[in-house]
Amino acid sequence: MAKQPKICVVGSSMIDLISKVPRLPKLGETLVGHSFHLGYGGKGANQAVMAAKLGARVTMVNKVGRDVFGEGTLVNYREQGIDTTHVMFDESRFSGVAPIFVDDNAQNFIVIVPGANLGLLPADVQKAAEVILAADILICQLEILSETTLEAFRIAKSGNVRTILNPAPAASIPDELLQLSDICAPNETETELLTGQPMGTMAEAEAAARKLLLRGTRTVILTLGERGALLVDEDTVESIPAVKVDAVDPTGAGDAFIGSLAVFLGEGLSMSNAIRRANAVAALSVTRIGTQVSFPKRVEADDFLENQSLI
Ligand code: RIB
Repeated sequence: MAKQPKICVVGSSMIDLISKVPRLPKLGETLVGHSFHLGYGGKGANQAVMAAKLGARVTMVNKVGRDVFGEGTLVNYREQGIDTTHVMFDESRFSGVAPIFVDDNAQNFIVIVPGANLGLLPADVQKAAEVILAADILICQLEILSETTLEAFRIAKSGNVRTILNPAPAASIPDELLQLSDICAPNETETELLTGQPMGTMAEAEAAARKLLLRGTRTVILTLGERGALLVDEDTVESIPAVKVDAVDPTGAGDAFIGSLAVFLGEGLSMSNAIRRANAVAALSVTRIGTQVSFPKRVEADDFLENQSLI
C-alpha cells in the first residue's frame, strides 16, 4: 500500500457562484442562463480537497469571513477530513467569493473577490510553522498576499519540505518565490505573464519553462490544456499528452491537477508518472459541473486510471 502523504496548503477559499450560460455575455448584455450552482471553491481549498479525496492527510491554512460562507467552508473542510486548526476568521472582511460563467463549449471566466483571504498574514503562517514543517509537501497559489505565500515557502524550505507553487491567477512574482519553489506549475496564461514569452508552439513553451528555471525554480510543469503538460527541468524535457474526455466544465481542473500531483509525488511516484496520473484525474473532473464536487474520490480515480492504463 502507498504511503499516506502529509500535505499542507497555505491558500485561499472562495464560494463559487457558477452560472451555466449558452455563451459568454457581451458588454452591457443581459443573458438568460441555463442553471446555477453554488459550491465550495478557491484554488487553495480546491487543491486541499482534491488531495484529501485521494487519501492524503491534509492541513489547510486559510482565513474566512465570519459569515454564512465562512462557517460553511469550515464545515466543508471538516467533512472532507481536512485539519482546520489553522483556518481562522477575519472579523472585518467577507469570505471570498467567485462569480463564474461556463458556456456550452465548456469555456469559463472567473472573477474572484478575495475578501478574508487577504487577511491571512505572514504572522498567521508563522503560527502554523509546525504543521508546515511536518508536511511532506507544501502547496501555495496566488489568491492570498504574496508576502504570506513567501513566508510559508521560507518556513518550508528551512525544514527541507518539498514546495509546489501554482502561480494562479496570473500575477508577477518575486524571484525569491521561484527560488523557494521545487516545482512551479503554471498554465498557459500564467506562463505568458511570468515570462513574457508567447506559447503558440511547444518550442516556445519549452523556452518559457527555461526562463522560469533560470529564475530559480527546480522543475517546471506547464499545464497546456488540450496540449497536455510539459515537464522541464535541468535534465528532462517531456511532453505528456492530455487525456481526451467530453468536457462540460473546466473550472477547477487545474486545482485537481495540482492537488493530485502532490498526492502522487508524496506516494513516491516519479515526476513523469505523477503528472500522467494527475492529468487523468483533472480530465475526469471536467466531465462534471462544479469545482470540488467534480473531483473524484480515490476509488473512482483509481478505476479511471486503470482504464487509461496508467496504473
Ligand atoms: O481554479 C478554480 C477556482 O478559481 C474556483 O474555485 C474559484 O473560486 C477561483 O478561485
